[in-house]
Amino acid sequence: MSDPILTLRVAEVTPETDDAVSVSFDAGKAGRLDYRPGQFLTLRVPAQEGWVARCYSLSSAPGDPRPTVTVKRVPGGIASNWICDRLRPGDTVEALLPAGRFTPAPDHRDLLLLAAGSGITPAMSILRARAREGGSALLVYANRDERSVIFAAELRRLVEEHPDRIQVVHWLETLHGLPDAARLAALVRPWAAGADAALLCGPAPFMAAAAAALTALGLDRARVLTEEYRSLASDPFAVLSAAPGPEPADEAGAGTGTGTGTVTVELDGERKTFPWPARTTLLDLLRAQDLDAPFSCREGSCSACACRVVDGEVKLLRNTVLEEEDLAEGYTLACQAVPLTDHVEVVYD
Ligand SMILES: Cc1cc2nc3c(=O)[nH]c(=O)nc-3n(C[C@H](O)[C@H](O)[C@H](O)COP(=O)(O)OP(=O)(O)OC[C@H]3O[C@@H](n4cnc5c(N)ncnc54)[C@H](O)[C@@H]3O)c2cc1C
Ligand code: FES
Repeated sequence: MSDPILTLRVAEVTPETDDAVSVSFDAGKAGRLDYRPGQFLTLRVPAQEGWVARCYSLSSAPGDPRPTVTVKRVPGGIASNWICDRLRPGDTVEALLPAGRFTPAPDHRDLLLLAAGSGITPAMSILRARAREGGSALLVYANRDERSVIFAAELRRLVEEHPDRIQVVHWLETLHGLPDAARLAALVRPWAAGADAALLCGPAPFMAAAAAALTALGLDRARVLTEEYRSLASDPFAVLSAAPGPEPADEAGAGTGTGTGTVTVELDGERKTFPWPARTTLLDLLRAQDLDAPFSCREGSCSACACRVVDGEVKLLRNTVLEEEDLAEGYTLACQAVPLTDHVEVVYD
């Protein structure tokens, strides 16, 4: 099993606004970091009592010289303030491998991106990739005022270089008021019909308004991807450092199956079959089998562990990230899945 914890060396810390910085890394021993536009890293950050783990979306795009995350200070927040105030070139940070499903599919050519505040980070990665690879995008980017716009110059440059393919509309609360569903719908209506996918990232009220706008425009939910920012309550690094072994799922939430069935897993091009005890989550089982199954939060809230059930059924103990449409397509969360049928077959895409 390859080491799931990377040690990244900070190459550069660049102030973006008064309260946001970009941190670029040398991937160190890991060499080149493989990721898709819109994915995130989970970083381990020192806290008063031990450590905390936090997810940060990559703002760079694959092919950029250095993987980069962009972090906005949250008042009173542990990790964001440490990163903004303390991280310096030459420091090292532990990280989990890039993860997440907030990334356009290969057949998503024309995109609608709705971002607010630090929600620009994955949108920036996607726009940078788009500029290089082709396809079009409209970004609607909401901020309090002009001073809080992250990547203002870079966005201007992308539009100037690709005026036929990339458009950016800034929404400033000081000028336009808070973004609401009706006005967002009016703004994006000409784009929404032709968009292959819409990607939403920002604070909860903005996400709610943007989702309502897309629903009002009749956009198929299957074409809408969302990334919700929240802090992790658990520490996946501590779990990884502990000796691997299956941990029983909470009795109250465990699947109805009794005893042990089997699961066939396709991961990294290999197919393997194991016994799957009814009260063990899939992720715990795979880790116990030394398989390099991805994960981050282990709380059912980030989708880093997402995989697809192609046969049989599972039950999710907790899920705050997959939508009805994802579940209907067979997607599940390995960190929360317990078996409901005697045999289950799972594929990591
Ligand atoms: C997939 C994903 C991608 C993300 N990408 C980015 C990104 O690109 N850029 C970015 O800036 N952020 C991103 N985030 C958010 C990031 O992970 C953190 O949640 C954010 O930086 C805040 O973390 P913190 O440690 O600074 O704040 P925390 O310490 O988690 O605190 C958050 C807030 O809660 C308050 N708080 C904390 N503890 C308590 C308590 N006990 N009682 C009451 N209030 C409390 C704090 O005062 C603060 O206001 C992402 C999150 C996810 C899940
Ligand atoms: S690891 Fe985050 S949802 Fe499973």
